[in-house]
Amino acid sequence: MRVTFPEGFLWGAATSAHQVEGGMDNDWTEWELANAERLADEASPRLDYGCGPLRAEEWLRVRNPAKDFTNYLSGDGIDHVHRWREDIELASSLGLRALRYSVEWSRIQPDADLVENRWIHHYIGRAIAMRELGIEPIITLHHFTNPKWFSRLGGWERPEAPHVFQHYVSNMAVAAADAGLDSVHWVVANEPELYATKGWVFGDWPPNKKFSPKSQKVIKHFAEAHKRSRDTIKAVDPTAMVSSAPHVIDFEAKKNILWPANKLAVAVGRGLLADQFSKRIAEDIDFVALNHYLHCVVNVGRIANNMGLFQNGNVPRSDLGWPLNPESMYNVLIDAGKKKLPVIITENGIATRDDALREKFTKETLYHVNRAMQEGVDVRGYLHWSLFDNFEWPPAGWWAKFGLVSVDPHTMERTVKPSGYAYSDIAKNNGFEIDASL
Ligand code: BGC
Repeated sequence: MRVTFPEGFLWGAATSAHQVEGGMDNDWTEWELANAERLADEASPRLDYGCGPLRAEEWLRVRNPAKDFTNYLSGDGIDHVHRWREDIELASSLGLRALRYSVEWSRIQPDADLVENRWIHHYIGRAIAMRELGIEPIITLHHFTNPKWFSRLGGWERPEAPHVFQHYVSNMAVAAADAGLDSVHWVVANEPELYATKGWVFGDWPPNKKFSPKSQKVIKHFAEAHKRSRDTIKAVDPTAMVSSAPHVIDFEAKKNILWPANKLAVAVGRGLLADQFSKRIAEDIDFVALNHYLHCVVNVGRIANNMGLFQNGNVPRSDLGWPLNPESMYNVLIDAGKKKLPVIITENGIATRDDALREKFTKETLYHVNRAMQEGVDVRGYLHWSLFDNFEWPPAGWWAKFGLVSVDPHTMERTVKPSGYAYSDIAKNNGFEIDASL
């Protein structure tokens, strides 16, 4: 069966500065240095996303890097900061028509009262170079990292945060307009509700706070920063397309004797955390930006037995232990379609060393994207996460292989994987053949 996409569909890939550039000096680099050894000590097969802990053979595949502290240091990245031009040329040769990258705020504003124009021009220069190659730049303004001075002053907990952030955004928006870049897609914030949950509820990410009510403040401040940023960007370029990308999980209540309680847990979890940010910015977006990876079956009975909340069962899973369910993309798109706006899938992918599995998972996911489009959801593009094997946030690190392209850590040589060529064929042909039994 042939799966066909409309002319002009934005086939692309996504990256973020901290995960590829190298040579960072921000609040995460500081945190990595302080926490790398602990993360290596604590690494275990207990990565349970509802399919049980990693099996012995799965853990064996990742144990060595996971137990090595250098795995948790972003370090030189994949040297994208110096190789970005050849990297976008590579993307262009693969037929990609969109690239999402993030601007590193700590490079633009290394001190509260210092703005580095050369770095503004660096990031704007990338967008110009992309357009020259027929690639649509999709520019993220915040992807988890902050300048150190900003975090020291209290980071996203502070009521002043949105205003401070707006100042940086204004510099970027004015520079883009001055460079003649109109109709740019901007993603103001990447997954702020996940950032708040990991940093202020589970305590896994900086600033490592557990069950802190400040998580709500952080989400609120991000929503305000989003609105202020959108106003600022639109004031200099009314044609700009502005959104922010939440981490959209397809939650399902386990149908067992506890079903009513499971449904309640899904509703409370979504209301308090997952949907908090999206709801606040619902009226202030020009397109829906959707990051989607996970389908989680919620069973509260598991908490009582101290087994975690999710119970996906014995389904295939990625190297990170994440359950693989390509069909969940259809569910989240149907939901996103209710907003009656264009949708761009700003992230979706799989961490795996089994490259054939990446190709299969991607095609199956795209089949479900296509199904949602047939039912009227206005999906304009799909950005695969990620173009390269890159630095993954804890508890993973360098061993999580999300890329269509691998990178030799010593020579930094890029090698397109078979899944990268398969994705390139899809992009160039605007479609692909898939087993009709799906
Ligand atoms: C983030 C990416 C990350 C990816 C895979 C998303 O939550 O935006 O930065 O690498 O998921 O974990």
